[in-house]
Amino acid sequence: MKLYDAIILGAGAAGLMCASVAGQRGKTIIVLDHADEVGKKIIISGGGRCNFTNLNVLPKCYISHNPHFAKSALGRYTQHDFIAMVERHKIAYHEKTLGQLFCDSSARSIVNMLLDECIKGNVDIRTRHNINNISLEDGLFKISSEKKEFLARNLVLATGGSAIPKMGATSFAYDVARKFKHKIIEPKPALVPLKTPQKQLSFVQNLAGIAVEAIVTCNKTQFRENILFTHRGFSGPAILQISSYWAHGDIITLNLSPDIDVFRFLKDKKQARPKTELKTVLAELLPTRLAHAFAEHYPSLPIATLSDKIMEEIAMKIQAYQFKPSGSEGFAKAEVTLGGIDTAGFSSKTMESKNIKGLFAIGEAMDVTGWLGGYNFQWAWSSGWAAGMSLD
Ligand code: FDA
Repeated sequence: MKLYDAIILGAGAAGLMCASVAGQRGKTIIVLDHADEVGKKIIISGGGRCNFTNLNVLPKCYISHNPHFAKSALGRYTQHDFIAMVERHKIAYHEKTLGQLFCDSSARSIVNMLLDECIKGNVDIRTRHNINNISLEDGLFKISSEKKEFLARNLVLATGGSAIPKMGATSFAYDVARKFKHKIIEPKPALVPLKTPQKQLSFVQNLAGIAVEAIVTCNKTQFRENILFTHRGFSGPAILQISSYWAHGDIITLNLSPDIDVFRFLKDKKQARPKTELKTVLAELLPTRLAHAFAEHYPSLPIATLSDKIMEEIAMKIQAYQFKPSGSEGFAKAEVTLGGIDTAGFSSKTMESKNIKGLFAIGEAMDVTGWLGGYNFQWAWSSGWAAGMSLD
């Protein structure tokens, strides 16, 4: 049986990056994946254009039980290193918003780039390989798929997290890590839409489809971006971001008029145009349907008839709309996983286990979760690079 320097399980973002780096260092590498094609999440990401990194990557944009863990890899293989590779491969890209970089054409060009880099490193990639067993004997990892057995001195877990099981996500990395006595921080859906409680459901359902810029707060964390009313609650970038910081029982507050003090605005309008109806005035601040929903208790009242107390109440509803989510939409709709393999058992420099020599874990499988906007791919590239550079 051929002895490889490393077997990488998972041909996604982190696995392909790690394979290409180690292969180009002269290591003999095989990548095994159960899917019928490589990089499936890359292909569908960013609406098919792959938001492959972010110009503003900083460690504070990552959530982990150890907030320092990601610093080393992110600092040694940066967004600029990845952008340089994208440019070497002549892939056209653009900044959409907030530093988010997307391909001009298809996300497939990122997968093709990674495959080209793997070819340069003579990496052997095999899809449709279901892994049945993993054992470690005399310092060698033996991996059995239903097709064949493989032997290597190093094993890299790069099978991702639990988000979107329909696309082949599994808890495999966690199971293997547990087998080798590593701890798992409870995996939870993140970057995921949130559901409103029953009592607020008809309010949001009537507004489904409306997007508006808002400041969203949960405990002390805030994001300012669009939110989207849905048939079950809220989605949109600011809600997805806050969902990673939300735990059951937490209240979420929405400021739907982030730049204008609504009470002051209503007072001014009352003086300037007393006969105007409340809903007409609010429609100058908010999308019409939303304005009408907030004015529904005072249907055709001219603003002159509203007391300060009522105007304050209306302002509060708009600038401090609160809901206690009944839950999230779960792994079926989550973009990533919060939690995962506890980083405490791994070196932040090499991604190697502190207890099991030759065992590495990278990418989303680890307890490192990025913000929305290209941060999660950057973690996959950086952690994949770190492991690829240190496999011996
Ligand atoms: P990834 O999931 O990419 O790869 C894991 C690989 O392991 C897969 O190929 C899978 O088939 C394989 N595998 C799983 N279980 C296995 C098993 N039991 N046996 C063998 N193989 C197995 N991020 C971002 O930065 N920008 C973006 O635009 C987006 N967009 C986006 C859209 C959608 C819809 C989703 C679901 C996610 C995103 N993300 C994102 C997140 C991003 O896709 C994610 O963080 C990275 O793909 C993680 O890379 P990994 O290599 O760790 O896992």
